[in-house]
Amino acid sequence: MPDPGPVTDLSGERFVLLGDGDGEGDGQGHGGGDGDGGGGGHGGVVAEVAARLAQCGAETVIRPAGHLLDPADGPVAGVVYLGALPGQDRPLLPDAFPALRAALACGPRLLLAVRAADGAGALRSAGLDGLMRSVAREYPDLLARVLAVTGTGPAAVADAVLAELRAPQPAPVVLRTAAGQRRGLDLVPAPLGPLGSTGAGPAGDGAAEAAALGLDPESVVLLVGGARGITARFATTLAGASRCRIELLGRTPAPPEPEAPHTAAARTPVELRAALATGPGAAQPAEINRAAERILAQREITATLAELAALGSPARYRSVDFRERDAVLQAVKEIHADHGRLDGVVFAAGVIEDRLITEKTPESFRRVYGTKTAGAGALFAALDELPAAPAFTVLFGSIAAVLGNRGQADYAAANDALEAIGADWATRTGRRALTVHWGPWAAAGGHPGMVGPELGREYARRGVALIDPEEGTAALLRELAWGDPATRAVVYTASGW
Ligand SMILES: NC(=O)c1ccc[n+]([C@@H]2O[C@H](COP(=O)([O-])OP(=O)(O)OC[C@H]3O[C@@H](n4cnc5c(N)ncnc54)[C@H](OP(=O)(O)O)[C@@H]3O)[C@@H](O)[C@H]2O)c1
Repeated sequence: MPDPGPVTDLSGERFVLLGDGDGEGDGQGHGGGDGDGGGGGHGGVVAEVAARLAQCGAETVIRPAGHLLDPADGPVAGVVYLGALPGQDRPLLPDAFPALRAALACGPRLLLAVRAADGAGALRSAGLDGLMRSVAREYPDLLARVLAVTGTGPAAVADAVLAELRAPQPAPVVLRTAAGQRRGLDLVPAPLGPLGSTGAGPAGDGAAEAAALGLDPESVVLLVGGARGITARFATTLAGASRCRIELLGRTPAPPEPEAPHTAAARTPVELRAALATGPGAAQPAEINRAAERILAQREITATLAELAALGSPARYRSVDFRERDAVLQAVKEIHADHGRLDGVVFAAGVIEDRLITEKTPESFRRVYGTKTAGAGALFAALDELPAAPAFTVLFGSIAAVLGNRGQADYAAANDALEAIGADWATRTGRRALTVHWGPWAAAGGHPGMVGPELGREYARRGVALIDPEEGTAALLRELAWGDPATRAVVYTASGW
């Protein structure tokens, strides 16, 4: 990327620096040498950036990273967020969301968040890129940017920040190397090679791919979130291709066998609510809605189990909330003990609660973010306890992480962080963990997934093509069979995206 060099004149501009350390107060602190900025704060870095901005004529104000900016802090032209730099072991998100939201509410022209580019630093700031890509979508007049730096000492960060203030292209995530190079991140095509581009196996049924993956009727694949939605659809593809044994996990309580007689005949949500309202132990309206949703979810689970059995795969379902770490450890241990093996894992748990950042509460951010990140963390901790890790682990991410999406700051951050967590585990264990960032899927028969009819119409209005479930599942199987096992993340969208 062309780089016009550092900014020189910032007279009349007022910057707020958010970062922890020894330099709080109204900004005249000066940093020392070029250490790592560690030790629990970023005081040296904050002070150095403030000093360099001041040298260019800017007014600077320093506040702690968690400070919620408000009108009492005065007018703000730019916010430089330094709280993501190394210095603390805790992950940045979801705790940093309220401070970033408050900064946005002050209406700055620039929000620059600085993070370390290396692997450990990327784990601490996991999700920040996805979040800021969404910020850029929701605030088109704001220059929102993540600055990934290879040097995290005061002088290196200050050089990078000053240079970035003048850099032209609004790439939401920019890498600056210690050698002074500036790079944007881009998607690149990654062909699978001849075998992978000729369809799902010679017979088109995925059998060749399953065999290449080592899957046969003795194999065991565990799918988190696999009893419903697009993952249930992928479970049937695995079953059709290999007749492997399948373990499905999700939050919904296991369906009763058979369904209660007073609801069994009700087909639509309206009929179901009516049956619940007049049936035995009739509940309050809110409870009726929840009960109707649960019954529909349980029917979907029952249907998935029947589909898998019909395809020749023995399948079980068990209710486990992946935000509960101990329950996850227990469930994975028991499943491994029951079968004596675990060959593949798909982690697809996820929830959406779409809202613009101004309307998004920290609790909602935490739910959406934690379902993916705490869930994946618990899963990897459980896999670490097994005598042998599965041959493959797939994490279902979203294109929102890669491109950002209006109304999905939490979801984009979660899926971006998911990739970082998977990559960290793969590096640590030498095992394969692939995050697939999906574009939106079309509803698949009885497995509608997250793209309901309303969202589907919205995508149609915007001209966004939806992934055909047949194509999507075949593409994943091909990726697993013929893709480079060292690849940590791929993006799959509908053809013609
Ligand atoms: N559909 C799409 O277009 C699309 C696009 C991009 C990415 N994705 C990703 O693909 C995955 C599946 O999406 P989907 O469309 O099939 O949605 P879905 O039908 O809503 O499925 C989500 C699954 O996650 C489970 N889940 C949620 N919270 C959980 C928790 N705390 N513990 C355990 N399981 C939990 C749900 O189980 P319960 O219902 O029983 O709670 C459900 O089975 C998600 O991770 C999503 O982010 C989907």
